[in-house]
Amino acid sequence: MNTQTNTSLAHKPKILVARAIFPEALVKLEAFYEVHSNQSDQLMSAEALQKALSDVQGALVTGSERIDASALALAKDLKVVANISVGYNNFDIPAMNAAGVMATNTPDVLTDTTADFGFALLMATARRITESEHWVRAGKWDQWSIVNNPLGMDLHNSTVGIIGMGRIGQGIAKRALGFGMKVIYHNRSQLSAEDEKACGASYVAKESLLQNADHVVLVLPYTAQNHHTIGAAEIALMKPTATLVNIARGGIVDDSALAQALQAGKIFAAGLDVFEGEPQVHPELLKCSNIVLAPHIASATEKTRRAMVDLAIENLQAALDGKEPPSLINTEVFSKA
Ligand code: DGY
Repeated sequence: MNTQTNTSLAHKPKILVARAIFPEALVKLEAFYEVHSNQSDQLMSAEALQKALSDVQGALVTGSERIDASALALAKDLKVVANISVGYNNFDIPAMNAAGVMATNTPDVLTDTTADFGFALLMATARRITESEHWVRAGKWDQWSIVNNPLGMDLHNSTVGIIGMGRIGQGIAKRALGFGMKVIYHNRSQLSAEDEKACGASYVAKESLLQNADHVVLVLPYTAQNHHTIGAAEIALMKPTATLVNIARGGIVDDSALAQALQAGKIFAAGLDVFEGEPQVHPELLKCSNIVLAPHIASATEKTRRAMVDLAIENLQAALDGKEPPSLINTEVFSKA
């Protein structure tokens, strides 16, 4: 790891910044902490992360750093790990609880940006936008044609099925209403009548959603229970004209089964922002033309990424000041402290 240390502030609490962040944010941190930062942005090995956590009181990490019992094994002074991410499947919460380490994430600040992207990916997928661009760049566009141009699927007057109806799912539902879409959803628990009304959404069983949706959008958190929420059996329930969009996490979809289904024309198209084993992409997915691929960028606008970093810093500072962080996940650790 290429670390830089501000040695003039050695008396201040030590923190780790595990990946590159905005320079202004680093300056802000250096006013309060002795900062060990990995501005090279190269992912640390598990051993390097364990060592880097061994003498710090706080850490800012991203969803790519796995914080488990092994990462925490030498972390005798660590009080808080602040994820710069709303999803926290990189955290082993029981292991963090056992080590007395507070875990925080960055909800709310990325909701609208991520919902915007989910909708953009849905539109690009249904209307074959990247496939069309490749077609134009390849010089295949020789004339306007009624039938021999890339023909897509409509969004207006269609039914979108959202699996995972948290803040981002509800944001996508509200956008879909503006397109005159019918919104059905499936979630671990049904929304209140008031929330359902606000996003015009009706709760249905997962099977019914898969059978009836023209467009299926996945926005649920990754957990062991949600692994392969969409596999061959679920795809078999979908309409052959349907699209599937995953902005949730790799592992929610069985990418191998999806590639087979796309190649066999079992569904119309897919839009993926997240992948099993990312940044690797299943080689069979790369062979599909009826797919839109993005490099996990749903929250990637500068404004939102800055807000995520700021919230993570706020969480870290609160924890190190003995206050309850605004987005603390494992509240039991704070109440025991
Ligand atoms: C999130 O915040 O969970 C995004 O997917 C980035 O990891």
